[in-house]
Amino acid sequence: MSRPEVMFPSSEKWSRRARTVDAWAATRDQILEVDAANLGYPVYFERASGAHVWDVDGNRFIDFNLGYGPVVLGHAEPRVLDAVVRQMAQGTCASPLWHPRQVELAELMTEVIPGAEQAYLLRTGSDATTAAVRLARIHTGRDKVLRWGYNGWHDWCAPRPEGVPDPTLSNTLKFTYNDIESVRSAFAAHPDEIACVIMMSYEYDAPAPGFLNQVKEIANAHGALFILDEMRSGFRIALGGAQEHFGVVGDLSTFSKAMANGYPISAVVGRADVLAHLGRTHMSSTFYGNPAEMAAAITTIGILRETDALARIRRLGETFVDGLTELVRAYEIPAEVVGLPVSPFLIFDESDTAGCDRKVRFFTEVVRRGVLLHPNHQWFLSAAHTEEDVQISLDACRSAFDLISNG
Ligand SMILES: Cc1ncc(COP(=O)(O)O)c(C=O)c1O
Repeated sequence: MSRPEVMFPSSEKWSRRARTVDAWAATRDQILEVDAANLGYPVYFERASGAHVWDVDGNRFIDFNLGYGPVVLGHAEPRVLDAVVRQMAQGTCASPLWHPRQVELAELMTEVIPGAEQAYLLRTGSDATTAAVRLARIHTGRDKVLRWGYNGWHDWCAPRPEGVPDPTLSNTLKFTYNDIESVRSAFAAHPDEIACVIMMSYEYDAPAPGFLNQVKEIANAHGALFILDEMRSGFRIALGGAQEHFGVVGDLSTFSKAMANGYPISAVVGRADVLAHLGRTHMSSTFYGNPAEMAAAITTIGILRETDALARIRRLGETFVDGLTELVRAYEIPAEVVGLPVSPFLIFDESDTAGCDRKVRFFTEVVRRGVLLHPNHQWFLSAAHTEEDVQISLDACRSAFDLISNG
């Protein structure tokens, strides 16, 4: 397939330079998963503001990636930026001393998240899920983990097995989403061995009614903990995350992403008796005590709490989903609009070459029209997106479907 009209000479220049020195870039030609749908995707960005990113070639895009979800209020949101800059100017790396922001943020999280008696602050999502699993192992004296969804890159949940020791791989079991029998049979096959179930509450499909509570009941009945990985749902689907939205409470739950509008901070929250095991293990990092990211989180959560930002995101998402569903129907595209309105996605039928080609042409065309939709990952909306952004994006989708339909 030939290159689309939008060209990226500066991006290509940086890519060439990167290939010899940037080990990450050297292992891949494309920034997304290797997939022809990457054609026409910009690689290097120069700046981001509100709902938009500008690449190094000056092309402006409406951004539905939002850094894989964190940027819930929009890029460089002024109030969050101000809080970070003010904290930075006061100095931000003074471990082993603690900063009062740590207390304020822990108080805030325990106020807004169901079941959060305490909060432990870390840096990344993988830090948080790994810490939660360690705590569950200490609490139960068991090794095995039963999990669903993406939970990070660390050994116990690495999506690919290369470099992970076999005993670690065999200590991680998986179950099938919305299939309660798969949870039951994992516990039946490994009695008294499973320390915890850890899961995202959804990726595309919503949980079946009662499913999350059933998983929790089964886990607890077998002496295991139930950990909800709220990385994508937290501070997005509701202020209190999936736990508030779906009416379930994890023994522990893990947050990052939208919690601080793009600044690196994460948290494990939940039962105080489980979090007390922090006193029996070593889990700490040089940067866990830095208050700038805490200031970002306090400000972000405050805005989400005091404004209708999350309701607006949901409404915009509904408009996007409704519009896209109508287009898919009208153009008779073999594809399905999936996901909750706050994080929708379009799955193409890729069972044959024509289907794969349709997907490539769709994503190439929408990017060419200045809309960044990820071909292989759910999309996100922010409070900075407008009705107009959504309509422009739907127009780009329409033009992509036009192209597909007309050969
Ligand atoms: C559900 C979920 N859990 C855990 C993680 C890991 O977070 P991080 O990439 O910050 O380590 C992610 C990241 O995408 C995620 O989506």
